[in-house]
Amino acid sequence: MKLFTVRLSEDENAVDILDQTLLPNRVEYLRLETPGELFEAISSLRVRGAPAIGVAAGFGMYTAARKLPDDGEFAEKLGEIGSYLISSRPTAVNLPHAVNRMLNKAKNRGKAEALPLLKAECEAVYNEDRAMCRAISELGLTLVREGDGILTHCNAGALAATEYGTGLGTLLLGRELGYNFHVYSDETRPLLQGARLTAFELLSAGIDVTLICDSAASLLMKQGKINAVFVGCDRVAANGDTANKIGTRSAAVNAKYCNIPFYVFCPSSTIDFACGSGEDIVIEERDGKEITSLFYEKPIAPAGVKCFNPAFDITEAELITAIVTEKGICRYPYTQSLSALFGGE
Ligand code: MRU
Repeated sequence: MKLFTVRLSEDENAVDILDQTLLPNRVEYLRLETPGELFEAISSLRVRGAPAIGVAAGFGMYTAARKLPDDGEFAEKLGEIGSYLISSRPTAVNLPHAVNRMLNKAKNRGKAEALPLLKAECEAVYNEDRAMCRAISELGLTLVREGDGILTHCNAGALAATEYGTGLGTLLLGRELGYNFHVYSDETRPLLQGARLTAFELLSAGIDVTLICDSAASLLMKQGKINAVFVGCDRVAANGDTANKIGTRSAAVNAKYCNIPFYVFCPSSTIDFACGSGEDIVIEERDGKEITSLFYEKPIAPAGVKCFNPAFDITEAELITAIVTEKGICRYPYTQSLSALFGGE
């Protein structure tokens, strides 16, 4: 059975999502009918991954708009819902990107005029993501060779986006085209997206995947088992500094030391030209329970221990060999290469 990550419900009154907190043990879909339900699903990572959050927010804005009264306050009320959804997670820029696209369509318009435009816009966010993921995956294939060992961190596959995803797209498309890669998936503490999601997704696609503890990656690099590192990202600053799941920077530093190329895969919806550098990116801090007890039968740390649980880190631009976008492959210095490709959009 082919899974879907997020889609507009048939009656257009809800956002249907695959509940990723239950994977890999249960495949269950949720019907999210209100902005409150969508907020909860995004903040608790039922739907997660930068592009998927953007797509879900686009559909959520449309379904919310359908339920608003047809009065003079339509655009204003939709704006309030947009701000509320944006506040559900701070780091991935795809979320405000999609919400703002929707709000632009409602601006200075009444409900009747805005609704068809809003529907077309959320569908465009979804369809553009599919096309971008496919283009990124094709470009990624120019960076690898048959039989390569690839390290990946977190989950940047179809579960984090639409078809193919970003960081895993090359591997999923490559498999369809007959490539045999050996993929090493960091388990990705603390929420284990690598163990629960990447391992699940790659195994289901028939890809040779080996699960490792995050701390084993350096050893594998030294042993010559890794030819390249592939990751997705949540926000890329104008200078190429990149936010991605906590632990990504360690992988990049290790790769640099071992002379292994480190590639970031990113649709243009993840580039934030308003952020000059990684210093401007807000890093989400999450509940310490994710470190001490979530996913464990019994707590694995003493009660009351202080926890620090940042969800993301920033990988400096100079550690990144290339940023692969749907329009082309950018190399350092990114201030020039990104704006040459996208014109500082
Ligand atoms: O906290 P998550 O699971 O939403 O974090 C996701 C990541 O860090 C992904 O690598 C990133 O969003 C890229 S997804 C194509």
